[in-house]
Amino acid sequence: MILSIESSCDDSAIAITEISSCRLLFHKKISQELEHSVYGGVVPELAARLHAEALPKILAECEPYFKDLKAVAVTSSPGLAVTLIEGVTMAKAIAVALNIPLIGVNHLVGHTYSLFIEKPAQFPLTVLLVSGGHTQVMEVKSLTDIQTVAKSMDDSFGESFDKVAKMMGLGYPGGPLIQELAKDGDRKKHNFTIPLQGKQSSVLAFSYSGLKNAVRLAVEKEEKENYEDIAASFEHIATAHLIHKLKKYFQIVTPKTFAIVGGASANLYLRSQIEDLLKPYSAALLLSELKYCSDNAAMIGRVAVEMYNKEMFSSLKDLDISPKSSL
Ligand code: KG4
Ligand code: ZN
Repeated sequence: MILSIESSCDDSAIAITEISSCRLLFHKKISQELEHSVYGGVVPELAARLHAEALPKILAECEPYFKDLKAVAVTSSPGLAVTLIEGVTMAKAIAVALNIPLIGVNHLVGHTYSLFIEKPAQFPLTVLLVSGGHTQVMEVKSLTDIQTVAKSMDDSFGESFDKVAKMMGLGYPGGPLIQELAKDGDRKKHNFTIPLQGKQSSVLAFSYSGLKNAVRLAVEKEEKENYEDIAASFEHIATAHLIHKLKKYFQIVTPKTFAIVGGASANLYLRSQIEDLLKPYSAALLLSELKYCSDNAAMIGRVAVEMYNKEMFSSLKDLDISPKSSL
């Protein structure tokens, strides 16, 4: 079995995965959403302190599995430096105490493998990763052959939902709150511009900062009772931007199997728009189970099984956090 730890942002999670079958034997996550909600976003120092409390509590529940552990895995990149270090320090302590190898996992590879919890992996795949930290399209051929073909130049898709929710005084995380508010709103009420539509703008880039600022002006102008129309129009344009770029990308590379992963892949409007986009290509759509869309340790454990089988271990000395590294 492998014990895996996730602490890259505001979720403290530990999983135990059986190596031979990829079966998830234990998974527990303690989220910090309530604690960060009053600030409208994640406060890194507060997050680190909460991980230091939550991770040992969850680990205590894993004690019955200790004797069967063959490795310990941990998210070591990318993420918040002060929170990544909490997980990595704990993983190193476990590796020393139980004399087992250490595996450092990239969080974005983790999101990709959230598609394959308790399942065999399936490649090649075109993956849209939409989370709080990232918006990118990747061509994934295997565990070690991942090409990023488009990414955001500024804010991420999920982050733009968080910021719009903060402007409206709704709390954190903004994704589910905006989705709920948008449900009864008029998507056409506000004519926000789809970002990066010009002929010169690259097919291979996203941008959310301009849309965020346009929404800010609308929020300042409108009364609270009209926020649902702003939320609906924002969700529509934020999604239309992804669809517009993907359409262009599909003129270059025809999708066969397409996947959406990351916390914001839970967005229902996005899911329905992507389904429509894929129809003419008869491309298959893979989605993670809702409980594995947002940050979790099961996806880190799933990657770790692949890395264990390839003996991709790190030494105590070499495994370090890499907050900015991506794919
Ligand atoms: O993957 P994740 O848990 O953490 C990161 O790796 O960043 O993603 C969290 C992000 C947050 O920005 C949150 O607002 C967004 O995912 N999110 C959503 C929805 N549910 C979560 N965004 C849009 N619609 C949703 N339903
Ligand atoms: Zn994530």
